[in-house]
Formats: sequence, C-alpha cells, structure tokens
Amino acid sequence: MSKYRKVMVTGGAGFIGSNYVRMVCEKDPDRKIVVYDALTYAGNPENLTGLEDRIEFVRGDIADTETVEQAMAGCDAVVNFAAESHVDRSLVDGRPFVKTNVEGTYVLLDTAKRLGISRFLHVSTDEVYGDLVGTDHHSLESDVFKPRSPYAASKSAAEHLVFAYGISFGLNVVVTRGSNTYGPYQFPEKIIPLFITNAVDDKPLPLYGKGDAVRDYMHAEDHANGIDIVLHKGETGLAYNLGARLEVTGCEVAQGVLNNLDKPESLIEFVPDRPGHDYRYAVDPAAAESLGWERKWTFEDGLAATCRWYLENEDWWRKIKRGEHFQSHEESWYAERQA
Ligand code: NAD
Ligand code: DAU
Repeated sequence: MSKYRKVMVTGGAGFIGSNYVRMVCEKDPDRKIVVYDALTYAGNPENLTGLEDRIEFVRGDIADTETVEQAMAGCDAVVNFAAESHVDRSLVDGRPFVKTNVEGTYVLLDTAKRLGISRFLHVSTDEVYGDLVGTDHHSLESDVFKPRSPYAASKSAAEHLVFAYGISFGLNVVVTRGSNTYGPYQFPEKIIPLFITNAVDDKPLPLYGKGDAVRDYMHAEDHANGIDIVLHKGETGLAYNLGARLEVTGCEVAQGVLNNLDKPESLIEFVPDRPGHDYRYAVDPAAAESLGWERKWTFEDGLAATCRWYLENEDWWRKIKRGEHFQSHEESWYAERQA
C-alpha cells in the first residue's frame, strides 16, 4: 500500500500517463487518483476506458493556476507527465512546448509549494543529455545537460525549475529521466506505433537518414513501474535514469515491425533526416535499479506484444489517424521529407 493516499497525475490521459494510471489502479485499489489533463491532440479519454469509477478526471491546462489549484487541493503527491512530447512537432512550432513544458511545470511547482504537497515527481527524459554518438558512454544522472531540440531544451528548463523549487523552498521533488518508450495507447506519430499502423495498411515506413540512429526502447509497463518505485523510494532532490539497457537502430525497429506483421522490406522508405537528429541515447539506470527496479520486457517480446495490441485495437488508432491533428502533421512533415 502506498503512503500517498491521493495522487494528482497530470497528463494521465496520454500514453505513458494512462499506462501509469492503469498500473496503479490494478495494484493499489486504495490509492485515489486525480487525472488532470488538457486533452490536447495527444490526450484521449479512451486511454482510460474501464477506469472511470476508479479515477476523478479534471480537464485543465497545467499552465492555468486556478484550475490546477482546485484539482491539487487535497492531494498529497503530484506525478507530472503532462507535456508536449513529440520532437518533430517541436521543430515546426516550439511555442506550445515552452508554454506547457516550462510554464506549466512552473505553475504546478508553485501550486505544490503553496498547498504543502508532500512529494512532487517530475517525469523527464534522457533527451536532456543530448547526443552520445561516437562514444560508448552511458549517461549518468550527474552528466551536464546538452539538449539539442526545442523539445529537449524545454524539458531541460523544466527540470531546472523542479530542482530550484527543491533547493529554494524545500519542496520534496524527485525526477525520472526515461528512455524511448513504446506499448499500448501510444499516439501513432512516434516511430513504433507509426510503423506498425503504416505496415498494417501497406504504407511506407519513413526512416530518417540512413535509419542508423540508436534509441534505448523501454516498454511502457517498465517505465510506469519505474516511476512508481522512484515516487516511493527515490531520494529527495535526485534524478533517476530509467532505461532498458538496449540499443536499437531505426532500421532494426522497421525490420522488427515488418517481421511481426509478415510484411515485405520494400515498405521501408529512406527519407531526408530530422534536423538536429540525435544519433544515440543510452542511459545508465543503475541508481533506479538500486531502488529495486528492473525492466521486465525484452525488445523482441515487447515489440511483438505491441504489434498484437495495435492489431486488436484498430478502432482506437484508426480514429486518431483519420483525425485532423494526425493528418495535418503527417501531410506537412512527411510531404516535406518526400519533396
Ligand atoms: P503524450 O504526448 O502521449 O501525452 C501527453 C499528455 O499530456 C496528453 O494526455 C496531453 O493531453 C497532456 N497535456 C499536454 N499539454 C498539457 C497541458 N498544458 N495541460 C495538461 N495536460 C496536457 O506523452 P507521453 O509520451 O505519454 O509522455 C509523457 C511524459 O513522459 C512527458 O513528460 C514526456 O516528456 C516524458 N517522456 C516520454 C517518453 C516517450 O518515449 N514517449 C520517454 C521519456 C519521457
Ligand atoms: O528518448 C526519450 C524521448 O523519446 C522522449 O522524451 C520523447 O517524448 C519521445 O517522443 C521520444 O523521442 P524520439 O525523437 O526519440 O522519438 P521518435 O519516435 O519521434 O523517434 C525515434 C527514432 O526514430 C529517432 O531516431 C527518429 C526516428 N524516426 C522517427 C519517426 C517519427 C524515423 O526514422 N522516422 C519517423 O517517421
């Protein structure tokens, strides 16, 4: 049983947030959850189907002080997933990234300070460390930040605010820096769900550059579990890397998807690279492991299970892919890369 009786989960209607909420509802029936979410293009109430009686849902923007304060009152912990999360979109328009990821985090922190919240966990990313290409280094929590995309820069700025609130005001803060995550309910703009859903429809799998950028792919269940362990056991004022200790290229992702769906390699299409593309992320998750966390999923099993989930949940992703937010990004971003 958790020592936190009522937890505000911002961004709980998104991909990792909804996996986290589902996990907590299953393992800790006594913990009350307030999901606070603006339902941007990436937020989807259907991600929380079946949990309606277990959670309180508040629609609101994390940058809106009044609504945040109303929803946070009575909670003893906050887990902040809410963010603009897609790197490609941050290259088209960085403003919403600054507004939500920086200003929104500030509003949450300041409200948590005023309300005397016992614990504030901020969900960050391994992208704050920047590109490790050409080295065999694994990022340590003590490494300096070298963010290279507007998304990564906004997440780095948010982390600085989190630690500043810990130091200046004694807020009980802790941070997780997760690696690339995949699994059920991921918006099909990120590589794995995009490639699975394209392959189902015999559409091209657009690989940036030579498809040799490396990511450490971690299943959403492992990420959610790591966040909950750090919430309960992480030392105040510290950050914890979460990663699967795997290094997988874009080509290997494409190949894995095609093998699972029994589709031909001819669907792979090499397209012009993402500007400022980071070619290698890899974290050392030893500190989180020392708290008792370990990843359960291999990439092979996780990818196979994820392909099955998308095959079994076509209604969920087809509705999204028909929607305006998916179509407008896809049309402009990929048309530009094909021109
Ligand atoms: P997502 O885009 O799927 O979901 C984001 C959620 O936040 C959505 O439900 C959206 O409606 C909500 N949201 C956005 N702006 C908001 C605002 N202003 N106010 C309230 N709610 C708002 O994101 P995700 O992939 O689930 O990522 C969750 C968190 O984990 C983010 O902080 C991201 O930076 C971090 N992260 C993601 C990954 C990954 O691979 N997806 C890896 C490491 C860290
Ligand atoms: O590392 C953690 C980060 O992982 C999170 O903080 C971000 O929120 C999350 O979106 C993710 O960022 P990436 O940019 O690494 O994820 P994405 O799925 O967009 O890209 C993964 C890799 O695949 C990257 O090398 C770019 C490549 N790619 C991506 C897309 C969408 C392609 O080759 N083709 C594509 O169409």
